[in-house]
Amino acid sequence: MRADLLAGATYNPAVMPSPVPTILVFDSGLGGLTVFSEILKARPDARYVYAADDAAFPYGRLSEAVLAERVIAVMERLIGTHDPDLVVVACNTASTVVLPHLRARFSIPFVGTVPAIKPAAQTTRTGYVTVLATPGTVARDYTRDLVETYAAGCRVNLVGSRRLAGIAEAEMAGEPVPDAELIAELRPCFVADEGGRTDVVALACTHYPLLLPRLQALAPWPVAWIDPAPAIARRVTQLIGPPVPGHEADENEAMAVFTSGAGIGPALRGALLDKGLPVVAVEEMPLSYG
Ligand code: DGL
Repeated sequence: MRADLLAGATYNPAVMPSPVPTILVFDSGLGGLTVFSEILKARPDARYVYAADDAAFPYGRLSEAVLAERVIAVMERLIGTHDPDLVVVACNTASTVVLPHLRARFSIPFVGTVPAIKPAAQTTRTGYVTVLATPGTVARDYTRDLVETYAAGCRVNLVGSRRLAGIAEAEMAGEPVPDAELIAELRPCFVADEGGRTDVVALACTHYPLLLPRLQALAPWPVAWIDPAPAIARRVTQLIGPPVPGHEADENEAMAVFTSGAGIGPALRGALLDKGLPVVAVEEMPLSYG
């Protein structure tokens, strides 16, 4: 990690070549935008590259071996091209598998996104906690270990949704799906029996907070929805420190990079611009299982 960017450091041009850090935020698609928005609020001065590996979307269906190989290959290319000071893997499905590989391979710091099971267990009053994730994340040993370590006293309902990430992508592309489709994905999250009912849903896929207003409106009863994005943004600022006064990136250069670019239409470009990403680029990296 760049010691010169640690919290509290005073900018000294002799030892600090760039007081404006470049932060690469990475996901399989648009879900990482929920994390990007929080990081942008905390460090509006930084230089940003948001990378969506849409050529391999959805990650939730890939085997762990294929996913690890894919993320390392894409990261190799992105790091080579954009030279970030820090990478945020804004994807639970990837983080629960590839973080150790990435940290072994590259010397820059990686901040991951993993299911917020500990905060969920701390929040519940009934002890009925749902973890809503992709099928991949639900199947991970990593996720099961988090449940054992932090939520052993809770009744944890792991729900792997096959469709929600795609539904969130459609929403961002200006093609929202009907309520009935969302309700079908939500139904298994809500458990009620003689012992109590679900009062916390951890959103363990970064795509899902994109749908939060609709999820709240369609839920059969109110629950606490846990979105890990603010905690991730705090971790990023811990690692790179506060802004250096008088130095900031040109916000017109913040860039979204797609590995396929197949779904980029005017609605999505508008949504990216609204999120603070005016530049859109395609770096083609087709997925091969070779
Ligand atoms: N946004 C990703 C996550 O946090 C996953 C979506 C996908 O299946 O690609 O898990």
